[in-house]
Amino acid sequence: AEALRVGIAGLGTVGASVVRVLHDKAAELARQCGRAIEVVAVSARDPRRERGIDLGTASWFDDPVKLAQADGIDVFVELIGGDEGPARACVKAALEAGRHVVTANKALLAKHGVALAEIAEKKGVLLNYEAAVAGGIPVIKTMREAMAGNSISRVFGILNGTCNYILTRMEAEGLSFEDCLKDAQRLGYAEADPTFDIEGNDTAHKLSILTSLAFGTKIAADSIYLEGISNITQADIRAAGELGYRIKLLGVAQRTDSGIEQRVHPTMVPTASVIAQVNGVTNAVAIETDILGELLLSGPGAGGNATASAVIGDIADIAKSRPGFQHGPVFGRPAKELVPYKKAQ
Ligand code: NDP
Ligand code: HSE
Repeated sequence: AEALRVGIAGLGTVGASVVRVLHDKAAELARQCGRAIEVVAVSARDPRRERGIDLGTASWFDDPVKLAQADGIDVFVELIGGDEGPARACVKAALEAGRHVVTANKALLAKHGVALAEIAEKKGVLLNYEAAVAGGIPVIKTMREAMAGNSISRVFGILNGTCNYILTRMEAEGLSFEDCLKDAQRLGYAEADPTFDIEGNDTAHKLSILTSLAFGTKIAADSIYLEGISNITQADIRAAGELGYRIKLLGVAQRTDSGIEQRVHPTMVPTASVIAQVNGVTNAVAIETDILGELLLSGPGAGGNATASAVIGDIADIAKSRPGFQHGPVFGRPAKELVPYKKAQ
């Protein structure tokens, strides 16, 4: 079979790891997919930046939109970030040009996912986004594919690696919030603007996608109650510990009699509970359903390799798909408007 030709826009923490793993695991991937996967074109801001990756004969594009529209690309991979600007423009252009798209960009999907999904479905191409929620944990495939037929009543968890890393180290090592955040940035866990991590927006973006999959509703990130961890102090963590609790930033979505409740906030969880044992950059997603019961997935939630694993899984899916095969809905149908939860007066 012919090689799958991949164009990648964004060669930062995630993009560089994707290129490296695709190169190092080329033979294994070709065996698993029945065809080779080749990076034929790339785009980033600075063509002179040393990235420690072998770009081989890949063509360089200054403009990711041009790359998205270029002939000879089967899959466009967006790893730039941001809910507007170049990321939105190039994903839209790629879908309109009939390219499959893989993205790790939860901010983009939380804001424009419904519109982008409509283009993908109209064009009959895939819009894959496993890496957008909980890093390397295969929660999207689990919910979209493996849990078919289940009615979900609640989905919740630790969805931001940076926050969990900060809270874990503040408790275990007594370090300051600022020092832990700096380390999370150095390790490539944090968003380009870390406010999105520590104020809970990133968790809300991810939760809004999970809510949509769980309840068949349109993504509605704006209706999420939002509170981050930037005000959590050592004194709070110590006080929680003395009472037998740990503080975790949770995202929770559940069906209630008054609508779908979505909230993100620091939560005291009993120290003996499973969720309290999820430490460092690890994420965890708990899903409660009628058929399966309770499921808990946990694993690396951020970082180059963990995220690359999910991105490459999405690319491999496309390598295995066959032309003319009609793909199912991106987020589930019918996409009902989400009725926001109203607290009883
Ligand atoms: P980085 O900031 O490390 O990388 C961003 C890349 O985008 C850089 O290579 C940058 O170029 C490039 N870029 C910026 N503007 C443009 C432009 N106008 N045209 C072309 N390229 C551009 O981000 P990450 O790799 O950390 O994140 C990428 C995406 O993955 C984001 O959506 C993020 O939310 C998501 N994500 C990140 C995870 C993580 O652990 N880091 C985990 C899961 C998802 P240059 O290098 O030249 O500056
Ligand atoms: N900044 C994000 C986090 C990256 O820390 O979880 C993974 O989505």
